[in-house]
Amino acid sequence: MDDEERLADPEETPVEQELERTLRPRSLAAFVGQPVLREQLQIFIEAAISRGEPLDHVLLAGPPGLGKTTLANIIAQEMRVNIVITSGPALERKADMAAILTGLQEGDVLFIDEIHRLNRSIEEILYPAMEDFKIDIVIGQGPSARTVRLPLERFTLIGATTRSGLITTPLRDRFGFSHRLDYYSAADLGRIVARSADILGVAIDEEGTRELAFRSRGTPRIANRLLRRVRDYAQVRHEGRITGAIALEALRLFEVDDEGLDRVDREILNLILHKFDGGPVGLSTLAVAIGEEADTIEDVYEPFLLQRGFLMRTPRGRVLTRLGYEHCGVVPPAAAQPAPSQTLFD
Ligand SMILES: Nc1ncnc2c1ncn2[C@@H]1O[C@H](COP(=O)(O)OP(=O)(O)OP(=O)(O)O)[C@@H](O)[C@H]1O
Ligand SMILES: [Mg+2]
Repeated sequence: MDDEERLADPEETPVEQELERTLRPRSLAAFVGQPVLREQLQIFIEAAISRGEPLDHVLLAGPPGLGKTTLANIIAQEMRVNIVITSGPALERKADMAAILTGLQEGDVLFIDEIHRLNRSIEEILYPAMEDFKIDIVIGQGPSARTVRLPLERFTLIGATTRSGLITTPLRDRFGFSHRLDYYSAADLGRIVARSADILGVAIDEEGTRELAFRSRGTPRIANRLLRRVRDYAQVRHEGRITGAIALEALRLFEVDDEGLDRVDREILNLILHKFDGGPVGLSTLAVAIGEEADTIEDVYEPFLLQRGFLMRTPRGRVLTRLGYEHCGVVPPAAAQPAPSQTLFD
């Protein structure tokens, strides 16, 4: 099974997934935004290349669609090595992990997406593999079983996770480089929209680019998706060129609001407001009320709502902030809290 396929947005058709791949930057130079990370990686990669050594293991964390998979591919490309792609939930048996590890060539990148979902016993194989490039495998069964230590080629593990808080300490400690990707600025998203429009051959003016950038939830994948939807709209209802006014019309039709919140985002805020009196409400209760998985709410929707200060986490559950009330068009009660300055995730 193609992992990339499985992890892609379920709303996206194969054609769209193909488009998504063509929009993926292939080099560090083409990767927009995340300037600190880019500079760190540049130095890290150049140093490894000049020493003729494989790159140290890399952990990339952050919400979906910010470029973790893209970066893993770029790193392999820049190091001029092969990349083997798998994911935590796809690795079910120790033998699968052992087979992948023993198949790696010197310097190869092993990319494990959703690494926080690795089964514990499989994770334990990784410890000596990452540290000493060795794995222990058990041969035979019963009393005659014995453990054999197999050497591995020196490889680079790149782990990606939407939940760095769920990574165990022993695993986390074995990464030589780790970074949390942040939501992109509107300026960077504008650059991404312009670049993608160029690749897709879509005419879009500066206003149109800006409107899309502002409503992309800080996320390149969403920027690209909105661009495609607005392109459809401009083609069918207008002459094809995307202006600011056309972008706004289209986004209204697709139920993306001025803050870039989509229907589910607003549903979350409105449910907390109307059904739970502004909160606090526990995650699982909220998930049932919305009909989404708790994990999806926590990984996909909540981080942005927290970052924008519409929502706050408290020990007793999620509560709406003053901004949250206002966004729902309701005057906040006196007790409503202002949005705290955020530390995101975990
Ligand atoms: N910095 C960037 N510059 C330009 N395009 C980007 C950038 N980051 C991501 N993209 C675009 O966004 C899309 C989504 O990125 P990617 O698949 O790497 O996200 P991800 O962090 O792996 O998400 P997930 O957690 O859902 O796997 C890419 O296909 C690419 O087109
Ligand atoms: Mg990914």
